[in-house]
Amino acid sequence: MLGKNIPVKNSLQNGVILAATATQLPVITQLISKESLAAAGTEGFIIRSVNYQGKKIILITANSDIGILYGSFHFLRLLQTQQPVSKLEIISSPSLQLRLLNHWDNLDRYVERGYAGMSIWNWHTLPDYIDLRYKDYARANASIGINGVSLTNVNANAMVLTKAYLAKCAALANIFRPYGIKVYLTARFSAPIEIGNLKTADPLNDTVRQWWNNKAKEIYEAIPDFGGFLVKANSEGQPGPQNYGRDHADGANMLADAVAPYKGIVMWRAFVYSQQSTDRFKQAYEEFKPLDGKFRKNVLVQVKNGPIDFQPREPFSPLFGAMDQIPLMMEFQLTQEYLGQGTHLVYEAPLFKEVLEADTYAKGKGSTVAKVIDGSLYGHSLNGMAGVSNIGNNRNWTGHLFGQANWYALGRLAWNYNLNSEQIADEWIRQTFTNERSFVTTIKKIMLSSHETMVNYMTPLGLHHIMGNGHHYGPAPWSDNLPRPDWNPVYYHQADSFGIGFDRTVRGTNALAQFAPEIRKQYEDINTCDEKYLLWFHHVSWKHKMKSGLTLWEELCAKYYKAVDDIKAIQQQWNSLKNYVDAERFQHVQQLLTIQVKEAIWWRNACLLYFQTFSKMSIPDKYEQPDKSLKYYKSLRFPYAPGN
Ligand code: GCU
Repeated sequence: MLGKNIPVKNSLQNGVILAATATQLPVITQLISKESLAAAGTEGFIIRSVNYQGKKIILITANSDIGILYGSFHFLRLLQTQQPVSKLEIISSPSLQLRLLNHWDNLDRYVERGYAGMSIWNWHTLPDYIDLRYKDYARANASIGINGVSLTNVNANAMVLTKAYLAKCAALANIFRPYGIKVYLTARFSAPIEIGNLKTADPLNDTVRQWWNNKAKEIYEAIPDFGGFLVKANSEGQPGPQNYGRDHADGANMLADAVAPYKGIVMWRAFVYSQQSTDRFKQAYEEFKPLDGKFRKNVLVQVKNGPIDFQPREPFSPLFGAMDQIPLMMEFQLTQEYLGQGTHLVYEAPLFKEVLEADTYAKGKGSTVAKVIDGSLYGHSLNGMAGVSNIGNNRNWTGHLFGQANWYALGRLAWNYNLNSEQIADEWIRQTFTNERSFVTTIKKIMLSSHETMVNYMTPLGLHHIMGNGHHYGPAPWSDNLPRPDWNPVYYHQADSFGIGFDRTVRGTNALAQFAPEIRKQYEDINTCDEKYLLWFHHVSWKHKMKSGLTLWEELCAKYYKAVDDIKAIQQQWNSLKNYVDAERFQHVQQLLTIQVKEAIWWRNACLLYFQTFSKMSIPDKYEQPDKSLKYYKSLRFPYAPGN
């Protein structure tokens, strides 16, 4: 691969691959049309087979150095995945402008909801010691188009904004810059009090505003291309503008004004749920919808894919169909907080795609979530997608080897959300393991079915948030001892002698009213509601006839039992592939699958035994009956489960 420092002449004489911008090599303007170059945009690239001076060359070109790097990585991907490269005609530019990882890493290196070891940022030895992994990390991100990293936990520590820590952040920014990656920081709203000695953090107070202006200046002196702030405010105990009787727009705008002179942005999170509302599902919408139009131009509201909290499956957040004045940024979670954490093989691309392809009907049919977040539906130029990182200092980066596939998928979808889950899996498998056909086919099958399987052994038919309190590890649908009702599983499944599920129709909390009429109508009717969301929206009789002809109770049993069979089948498929994988990785995945099977059985048994206390129906005889009692499952405790 040739960069600008490699003599072009030699390469042409030897002649195969040429990577340069038109500025570096003006002849490119004769080989590539202006229109094509324009279509590549600032970050995109062109890869084309051309004849030049009697030689057939592969030309990788772009309008910027980073475009060349992205193009080169793409070319490597083609080689590694054994794609034909003799007749290339590729123009590629990113679907989304901001393609970010959000690390939930604390300054003491503990990673909130992290299952891959400690933070890769060694704050103690920065800025003088530069771990080579920082560079590897940047290179890995650039290879999939990720161009921004928020370094610290959204449950923020103001200390990261002090001079000493900014020097550490600047050291990381220096490593990342050549890879096209900007650094972002989480801003603790009360920082002016905690590190600025002010008495208030009121966003309308002039001294506070000035403090943030000065802070922004200081940050940009240390990191001239600093991206901006990511903020969690007035959520789960974090301070925010509401502490001073102000709203989210007041808070976001203050920070936006501070970074605007430097072209910085603010990503203000919509993950809020005060206790006032009757239904946690509705709260982000209730707080944010009225603020549409009140935010500065350099603010995005960052919305989790679903209305609750990264559940195995959620309907898309109604906010995506509700705000047209402000760009909405997507937040997915790569770290598998609710998806089996560090031990379950769950490929998340199907989950991401399900949300991106969902139709909000906000401007009629075809108003997909993807079109909302890429800005095209409402003409926003600022747009983006973030993934809550699953990376730690574990040797293989993500703890579970297959966690890498989720990091990969996030980058690839942020670059091109039209890629499908299968293509992305195919690329990842070939680059991670081998191009051997039978291996690729089997692993692809495993990956593509893994999300649905996990949904069905944890929370089938639209059940949600029934995991252990606090650490969210394992099933605890019985749990009801936390002070806030909406922190307890019983709040979400509402099981009783009649049935199970959360009634969000007009007869219940009417959360469905937050969606467009087309969706509302479909979900409001128990007979037309997609069964995968059934218990999200309806309180359904145990005897309700499902599409399969089974009763709800029978269907619930069928789903749980089939999912356990499916994960056992996955385990067997993996075992059949021993000869294709090195022993270390083979055993790593094999051991984790053993845990996954065990935990799937645990989920199935614990949930069915518990729900049976309401349905009073037996688990059909044809199934292997649970070998432990409900009492046993209820007695399990995991005080040191990771990531909390
Ligand atoms: C979840 C998660 C928290 C996290 C929060 C957030 O509630 O359990 O650990 O802080 O999401 O996204 O802010």
